[in-house]
Amino acid sequence: MSSHLPTPARRAAAPDIAARKGREPIVCLTAYTAPVAELLDPHCDVLLVGDSVGMVVHGLPNTVGVTLEMMILHGQAVMRGSRKALVVIDMPFGSYEGSADIAYANAARVLKETGAGAVKVEAGETIAETIAYLVKRGIPVMGHVGLRPQAVLVDGGFKAKGRETDERQQILADARATAEAGAFAVVVEGVAEGLAREITEAVGIPTIGIGASAGCDGQVLVTDDMLGLFDWTPKFVRRYADLRGEISRAAQAYSEDVRARRFPGPAEIYFAKAG
Ligand code: KIV
Repeated sequence: MSSHLPTPARRAAAPDIAARKGREPIVCLTAYTAPVAELLDPHCDVLLVGDSVGMVVHGLPNTVGVTLEMMILHGQAVMRGSRKALVVIDMPFGSYEGSADIAYANAARVLKETGAGAVKVEAGETIAETIAYLVKRGIPVMGHVGLRPQAVLVDGGFKAKGRETDERQQILADARATAEAGAFAVVVEGVAEGLAREITEAVGIPTIGIGASAGCDGQVLVTDDMLGLFDWTPKFVRRYADLRGEISRAAQAYSEDVRARRFPGPAEIYFAKAG
């Protein structure tokens, strides 16, 4: 029986992204809500429900306070709003570092309750055994090396990494360990440009850069940063819009209309039916 319904877009899976190594650059943005996911989905290969949600949506000072429940709620919204991009959900601080068993229970819960295609974990060598444990048990994992926002308390801030030789070696080792453990891709954040290129050449999985290098296999930005929702953004962000200015202008115009009784107007009110 033939159908006149359009063929639904097949959602990308982790192996599709892994197969893009060295090919057309992978486009990734963060998403936290259904309506924004719907707008980003046609343009992105990967939508990352980053734990940056804690900072950009919930007003936290860093990502340490983000919970599994927050990630699941935002993950469900992004899945509802998207059709074709692979949705990857960040495992929040404290949900995977304790043991491979804890990581498995929490990651399985995230995938079951959201329907997303993969999780992301920070760190490299120290978490490699856990990555292997998860992947062997059916959980696709994206790694994250270099500047690791969840390490903000030990690092004392968000600082670029890999400018000193020792740190370079460690980050390279982290990326290698992540790839060898079976991750399908790795985010490389806030590192010296040459190191990002070196990592991209050294590992067989796609590197997704943020503050890294145009030579990475893909790029990611925090959507709220690139839309200009903040007055300050890191050096590596390119602003493609000024939503802060737009929202502020709209709120001012609305408030002036309300105060002058120009809103609501005749087109925005209901009239009683005649008779
Ligand atoms: O949480 C996040 O948004 C991230 C990106 C910065 C890669 O991890």
